[in-house]
Amino acid sequence: MEHPDTHPLGPGRGRRVLITGAGGQLGRSLVRAFAGDEVVALDRAAWDVTAPLPAGIAAPDLVLHAAAWTNVDGAEDDPDGAAAVNVGGTARVAALGAPLVAYSTDYVFAGDRAVYCESDPVGPLSAYGRTKLEAERAAGDRAWVVRTSWLFGATGRNFLLTMLRLGAEREEVAVVDDQRGCPTYVGHLAEATRALVDGGAAYGVWHLAASGSCTWADFAEAIFAEAGLACRVRRITSAEFGARAVRPRSSVLRSEKGAPPLPDWRDGLRACLDELREQG
Ligand SMILES: NC(=O)c1ccc[n+]([C@@H]2O[C@H](COP(=O)([O-])OP(=O)(O)OC[C@H]3O[C@@H](n4cnc5c(N)ncnc54)[C@H](OP(=O)(O)O)[C@@H]3O)[C@@H](O)[C@H]2O)c1
Repeated sequence: MEHPDTHPLGPGRGRRVLITGAGGQLGRSLVRAFAGDEVVALDRAAWDVTAPLPAGIAAPDLVLHAAAWTNVDGAEDDPDGAAAVNVGGTARVAALGAPLVAYSTDYVFAGDRAVYCESDPVGPLSAYGRTKLEAERAAGDRAWVVRTSWLFGATGRNFLLTMLRLGAEREEVAVVDDQRGCPTYVGHLAEATRALVDGGAAYGVWHLAASGSCTWADFAEAIFAEAGLACRVRRITSAEFGARAVRPRSSVLRSEKGAPPLPDWRDGLRACLDELREQG
């Protein structure tokens, strides 16, 4: 990996790291993973990225941009609202002028390949995917554009927490079985982000997602098995589920550039369940 002209200050030497979207599931994990730095954690109330940075916040050495419009179906109804946050917000964050990690998504791909590497052609199927692709460009030249997929963690809104709730309430849930991806634990993504930046990776697009792959139905079955829930999974198609936005059929992310590897998605699932147990 090449060494770019990045932050003058290395980790643990007073580097000021500004984190946007610090109240989101990834943002919270980034705050923990960069605890050795001087972290300025800004949730939406502290900085709505569609508005200027509030006064009094010192210039950062590194920005981790985890704020985003992540409601994929909602973006179909309000693409301008999604673009204002995802594209406009990213441009505003890039304008701070510090080296930037901008998170993007497997939904920039059309889903007609078994596996996607960084140089593969994009072709978003949804309004959300289009805004995130435009955001990749808005991130500018001093950015690591980190594409990731199917995020889950111990807080917020995500598939794992939904399945734990439904699995405790119901005997059976219907889950989509014709989309394949890499469910990625936000704790593992945050650590891999730190490895990427501190390892001196060149700016540009990087794929950071869990190893292995599965369908949503496989993931649900693994969640129920690991959590000891007796709930059954009924495998259905995307058409039967009928979500508003079209998702890629296959969006398994792999790196052809030697990105820091992440553990298997099953290890992420177990780590997240451990985190939930610790929370009580
Ligand atoms: N979730 C996934 O499966 C997934 C997959 C691939 C890539 N990604 C990308 O990974 C990144 C992190 O996603 P995540 O899963 O951590 O999402 P998340 O849990 O929804 O967190 C996003 C955070 O951004 C905040 N936010 C929304 N609009 C904002 C605004 N205008 N200004 C400031 N903050 C705002 C949200 O606040 P509110 O909750 O108050 O709205 C939320 O706290 C995003 O770039 C996302 O596109 C996510």
